[in-house]
Amino acid sequence: MTQTHKSSLTPLIAANWKMHGDMSWIDKVTELDALLPKNEREHVDLLLCPPFTMVSTMHVLGSPLSIYIGAQNCHADVSGAHTGEVSAEMLADAGASYVIIGHSERRAAGETNADVRAKAEAAKRAGLTAIVCVGESLAQREVGEAIATVLAQIEASVPDFVDVIAYEPIWAIGTGKVPTMDDIADMHAAIRSAVGPNVRILYGGSVKPANAQDILAVANVNGALIGGASLEMDSLAAIARSAPRK
Ligand code: PGA
Repeated sequence: MTQTHKSSLTPLIAANWKMHGDMSWIDKVTELDALLPKNEREHVDLLLCPPFTMVSTMHVLGSPLSIYIGAQNCHADVSGAHTGEVSAEMLADAGASYVIIGHSERRAAGETNADVRAKAEAAKRAGLTAIVCVGESLAQREVGEAIATVLAQIEASVPDFVDVIAYEPIWAIGTGKVPTMDDIADMHAAIRSAVGPNVRILYGGSVKPANAQDILAVANVNGALIGGASLEMDSLAAIARSAPRK
């Protein structure tokens, strides 16, 4: 895959706050805006994915600042007797424009490839951009099955219309471990071959200010999905600054 494809895709810097934060955190939207003057963010799209409770308020703050707000999960149905669930339509109504789907923490809790596919369909139905997560376990990598595992997950859980995929090796999430840049390049090239030139392929798993520049410079890496380092706006801003300029 050539740099030509990469340069046609604006890097997406996506924060996955997981189950962290309260309403005092909404100020992080304006904090992020203040940390990144226009000339330091023209080269990226910025996305914050807080817990459901903060989506609406953060959308109101983020929208005029061109900071996108997303959610971390949705239900596949529009509505129904699903106590405790939130539909993609409800997220869109609250102002979300993205939704993370099939994160490994949710797959580990029982979400199947079929569930993930249905949720991606729901996101499209509601007008949301789905970020579908895939990634191998350490055991799968150690036996040389990382790429085959991820391509099988894509085949089973990522509909053709999806335009953002996050490659997140499970063993790299929250551990401080990252694959070598060659391994990231090989995986992203394999995903690129499977999904074509127009899909943004994010890397996720222990992205920090110290390694972001190297990771984001790898061919076919079109942004990052960031957990721990996205909770502080100065480190998220540093990661955004380190994304390559077109
Ligand atoms: P991490 O999480 O950056 O804390 O490793 C990434 C993720 O789970 O999306």
